Amino acid sequence: MSSSKVIVAKSNSPLAKIKVVNVKIRSYQSSDYDGCRKVFTEGMEQLISLVARVVLPKYCWILAALGVLVSLAAFMWTFWILAFYTFLCVFMMAFLYVNIYIECWKFINSCLATDLKDIEKTYMSGNGSHMWVAEWEGKVVGMVGLVNNCSHKPRVAGLQRMSVSTVCRRMGIAKKLLDELCQHAKDQRFGKLVLTTTSAQIPAVRLYKKWGFNLIAVFPYPRMILGDLQYLCFGLELK
Ligand SMILES: CC(C)(COP(=O)(O)OP(=O)(O)OC[C@H]1O[C@@H](n2cnc3c(N)ncnc32)[C@H](O)[C@@H]1OP(=O)(O)O)[C@@H](O)C(=O)NCCC(=O)NCCS
Repeated sequence: MSSSKVIVAKSNSPLAKIKVVNVKIRSYQSSDYDGCRKVFTEGMEQLISLVARVVLPKYCWILAALGVLVSLAAFMWTFWILAFYTFLCVFMMAFLYVNIYIECWKFINSCLATDLKDIEKTYMSGNGSHMWVAEWEGKVVGMVGLVNNCSHKPRVAGLQRMSVSTVCRRMGIAKKLLDELCQHAKDQRFGKLVLTTTSAQIPAVRLYKKWGFNLIAVFPYPRMILGDLQYLCFGLELK
């Protein structure tokens, strides 16, 4: 099922300085194990700052609005109130950031301890599931997996663990990985692809929408404190 493709870097890519970049899209091999786990972790680590950008602004506005009242109180009584409030704000923002950090790492570790612990078994055991990697100069720079398991309806497969190394982004690697995955899914006679992402993963959301995936469900993140974050479920009918 593996195939090789040559991808040319776009002019806005950091790699554009290197005239032509050869990126090979192929099936996962056992020697890719560490590379895949690294690319996945790298992609997901960025989730921390992306989630922070979604969750923190609301709290900043609330604290700023309260800050006006606190400043008035400080003028009337003592400036110690303002000092205390500043400390409280810093503490709250740090607390929120630590929460986001812990939640993201919980997710990363749960993936590394489940399907990405035994990639061969999860993706390459011949039930229609599969994993592809993008290889550049012998290194894994991208990955995506297709799973056919009991959590999906018959003829429905799940797309997961899409990640592209930071240095190789915006070169069309994710599109090439999707190309390969969709072709395989059609060959395996799957009728639909589904995936879940979060509202914080804006590049991923744009990628899936551009590829033709439709938003089929939105549900809030279960922890109140990160309430502005949403899970987005996308689906793509395969023709
Ligand atoms: C999402 C991700 C896989 C995209 O990989 P990529 O190789 O850079 O994507 P491509 O170059 O193939 O871009 C395909 C399309 O995605 C969208 N896109 C990708 N990166 C984007 C960005 N930073 N901002 C806006 N749109 C973006 C664009 O629509 C783009 O098409 P265009 O270049 O014609 O405009 C990559 O950003 C990534 O690994 N992110 C972290 C991990 C992650 O969020 N994975 C998704 C899990 S569900």
